[in-house]
Amino acid sequence: MKIMEKITEECREAVQKAVEGLYKTKETNAIPRVETHIEQNRKADASCSIAFQLSRELKKSPFEIAEEIAKNITPTETIEKVSALAGFVNFAFSQKYYQIALSENQKEKGKQGKKETEKKIKKQTGKESEKQKKKAKQKVIIEYSCPNVGKPLHIGHIRGTIFGHALKKIREQDGDSVVSFNYLGDSGSQVAKLLLALEIYKNLPVIKTEKDLLAYYVKINAEIEQSEELQKRQREILEAIENGDKKIQASLDKVRKLSITAFDNSYDLLGVKFDEVIGESAFIQDGRKVVQEAIEKKIAFKDKGGEIVAKLEPELPNTILTRSNGTTLYLTRDLALADYKFSKYKPSESVNITGSEQNTHFRQVYAILQKLGRNYNNKHVGFGLLTFEGKKLATREGKVILLADIIEEAKQEAKEQIMQREPLLKGKELEERSLAIGLAALKFAVLKVSQEKNIVFNFKQMTSFEGDTGAYLQYSLVRCKSILHKANEESAQEEKNAGKSKKEKREEKYTFNSEEKELLLLLSAFPVVVHNASKSLAPHILCDYLLKTAAAFSKFYSLHSVLNAEDERTKTQRLEIVKATANVLENGLDLLGITTLEKM
Ligand code: ARG
Repeated sequence: MKIMEKITEECREAVQKAVEGLYKTKETNAIPRVETHIEQNRKADASCSIAFQLSRELKKSPFEIAEEIAKNITPTETIEKVSALAGFVNFAFSQKYYQIALSENQKEKGKQGKKETEKKIKKQTGKESEKQKKKAKQKVIIEYSCPNVGKPLHIGHIRGTIFGHALKKIREQDGDSVVSFNYLGDSGSQVAKLLLALEIYKNLPVIKTEKDLLAYYVKINAEIEQSEELQKRQREILEAIENGDKKIQASLDKVRKLSITAFDNSYDLLGVKFDEVIGESAFIQDGRKVVQEAIEKKIAFKDKGGEIVAKLEPELPNTILTRSNGTTLYLTRDLALADYKFSKYKPSESVNITGSEQNTHFRQVYAILQKLGRNYNNKHVGFGLLTFEGKKLATREGKVILLADIIEEAKQEAKEQIMQREPLLKGKELEERSLAIGLAALKFAVLKVSQEKNIVFNFKQMTSFEGDTGAYLQYSLVRCKSILHKANEESAQEEKNAGKSKKEKREEKYTFNSEEKELLLLLSAFPVVVHNASKSLAPHILCDYLLKTAAAFSKFYSLHSVLNAEDERTKTQRLEIVKATANVLENGLDLLGITTLEKM
């Protein structure tokens, strides 16, 4: 357990004990909950609201109860002061707390918060307890991106890809083992069109990027639109896919691979990789079997028109499982997919990430699975829309906005910002830095917003070095690193001058000032924040935290000299705080999939 979790537990126990001692005559069900506070101008480092719960039971004012509880708690090594304010029991942490927070961070070199993996636990204890086993083996499937074969990623897929990738990294840091899963749509009409093209042209062109894919898609589309005969053939192909026709399967493999090559290009740009990539078409046959099961279990019935319909009303709308001609639907395949995932990986949790227009779809899928008696822990994350403000993005072919175009736009905007600061920067370095900042801007703009909210992109704002941006965080880290770099240079110079290294004694106590305390408190919250972001599937919690940390660093640095601190002891201590901040920023940005820079 890390220091912040420890002290939270310590505060909780202290309240519990005080309550038991004070009100022993009464049986109380009130459970003390302790919250730590990391915001600026907070009234306490931690607080407990139990007095409000007790007040009803005891018929006494919460103010009075809080006072009584606070008086009955004695400070400890890490809890300096306990007081009551407006019904809350407030805790102030001691200097010792901040010392531990700092050394904890240093020991773990920014990997602070990384939960122990199975192996490590085994090594330490020789055997694993049941609890540890359970903890270490949390396997999670995170399904994200999921574009459709034959078409480029649309804006919803892009948001999901960035989000899913960050969530995977956050989950892993929090100790879960994650399977990243990409479920491609490969049984829709656009795939039939590509297969038709394969028949007509015999060969497909070289398709490397999503741009190529889009151009080709537009070309075939136009041709099919002109010809009724081709449209008829397209329907036949669609049916053949449904029926698992062997010849069609081979062609399907071909176009799937082609699309994957194009998608991989975009995934490389974003730094995204998947453990498993599989198409919908793999679940058609099993989907049909699930429908049979649903009929037998009387969850589904045959409608007048011949369709098989799942009964979900009144909670949810009923939904068709197979059409009158026996073909499956998107939803049917999702039922078989869930079976596949849970039998193959036996995850403790499986997450689907898509646009919020699919919220009802997933509620239906999960409800049917439950009615079928599957005990799966499924979760769905549904996004709001992502739109663009200001500059119009080029959408030459069709109405699709390509990831490559978005990245290019962000990169150009970042370049302008860089050139305002460093007009002389040119060539490869300028290009690389612009791309890194552009990508960071894009990712952070997506991740800082909570899932259900819509996002409006403004490239100028997104790439700004100030404000709630990825660039601001990258820049804060660069500042930390440059201070550390300067300090290293200086001490190397001093060593050279003195001819020997002058090692400092660490025994004397250092008293952290209030800005240092604020920053260290934040730094010690890192593992807790990662855990919360992980469990609530919400990377924006981490984004928000990193912005707060960067702001606290900026405040600390503007008020206190580091390299020119009043004495050596202070300087050393402050450098350590800078190092600890860098650790957290670096690790935090990495979890969001954002690359860090040496210079900005
Ligand atoms: N391919 C689908 C789309 O583009 C998303 C698939 C989401 N995942 C799922 N299990 N249904 O809308």
